[in-house]
Amino acid sequence: MKIYRILSMLFLAIPHACSGSSAVMKSASSVDQTGAVRIKKEDLFMKVLKTVQGNPDSEYRNRYMRFANTILQESYEVAKRPVMSAGRENKFGAAYPIHPEVLSDIMDLSQGKTVLEVAAASGENGFLLGLTGAEKVYINDIEESEIEKCRARLSLLPTDAQKIFTLVQGDCLEVFKDAQYTGHFDVIYARNIIHFLYGDKREDFIGTMYRLLKPGGCLIITANAIGRMMQLIGQNSRAYVFKTTTYLLRTDGTGRCESLSRDIEVEDNLVDVDPLRYKVVPLVNITKKGPKYENAFSSLESSLQERINDLVSDVYEEGDIGKKGKLTIIKHEAQSISYTHATLYEAFSNTDLVVLKTLLTDHFGHVVNSQGAAHSLTMLFQKPLHSGQEKVAQ
Ligand SMILES: C[S@@+](CC[C@H](N)C(=O)[O-])C[C@H]1O[C@@H](n2cnc3c(N)ncnc32)[C@H](O)[C@@H]1O
Repeated sequence: MKIYRILSMLFLAIPHACSGSSAVMKSASSVDQTGAVRIKKEDLFMKVLKTVQGNPDSEYRNRYMRFANTILQESYEVAKRPVMSAGRENKFGAAYPIHPEVLSDIMDLSQGKTVLEVAAASGENGFLLGLTGAEKVYINDIEESEIEKCRARLSLLPTDAQKIFTLVQGDCLEVFKDAQYTGHFDVIYARNIIHFLYGDKREDFIGTMYRLLKPGGCLIITANAIGRMMQLIGQNSRAYVFKTTTYLLRTDGTGRCESLSRDIEVEDNLVDVDPLRYKVVPLVNITKKGPKYENAFSSLESSLQERINDLVSDVYEEGDIGKKGKLTIIKHEAQSISYTHATLYEAFSNTDLVVLKTLLTDHFGHVVNSQGAAHSLTMLFQKPLHSGQEKVAQ
């Protein structure tokens, strides 16, 4: 039996599922223990099906749906995917490629619209937006290797559907400088990029996204959230937490590698600062879970802990590779800022963008209502139709 028929039978069995997005949500989504609506993979697939089912060419439909289905199978709650960057895996960490509830909202916003996904890595979100009704989707990443993955993927789509997508390799602050892109995009999705940017670079990023956005258009920003620290300091805290992953190689003959991370808390509200200048609180291991890493740092003898702290402080000061005694720091990278509602909002306070919605998402990418569980924070901003005028009060 043809894939289309199987899928149609499977999904059309859900009552009213094709009659609109709210019906889709009612029919298949569920509510988690925090009261948040949980979108299922089938809900997202239904949006694909709805877009293509009117096409009389069965071969076209099959390839279109297979393409979308593959992305959903590979991405939905399956695994964090490492991002290759400059030949190094994990420079930008690893993340669930899809935030289902956030993506579902953006699919609704993108109907018939021109969409840009910046820093898209392997482009899962951009592709799904194009396959669920966006008219035109630009997928951007600075890394050729990521765009290459997108290109390879794109070739699997029917030729006509390929025309929805434009792949743009390069720095998103540079490649859209041409005046033709100013005010060109109805929807811009920037996921997991802003927390890697500080000071002028972040201002440049915000200014660029603002310029590219059409009046009335929506900018969706996802950033690391302070998560469980938010419980301690409150969602309105203006503190920033800079998380830095430091790889420590133990050279005491065991050949063992420890990967420890540390949080650096900034005591004031300055944003135009180099986080590395700040005093560091003791190393904590919050990114690696499980027995192997649990208390990895605190289980070291205290003199060693002290030496690590000294060593890491030196490295922060020098910004370089360090070596001391038994330990060598082999990498020092992946610095990122974790945001609260207040600090993410504040980052955009020089614009007149209006916050439409804020969503917290957990480690599995799902929206949650509990701040403590929040791994990421997504803000949906809208550019006023008559922008550039007075700031819109929140
Ligand atoms: C943490 S990954 C996020 C990938 C994807 N958006 C996601 O949420 O899973 C950051 C991505 O930003 C890309 N990137 C970094 N700086 C960039 C820039 N200036 N312009 C475009 N892409 C950039 C990296 O290559 C990487 O793919």
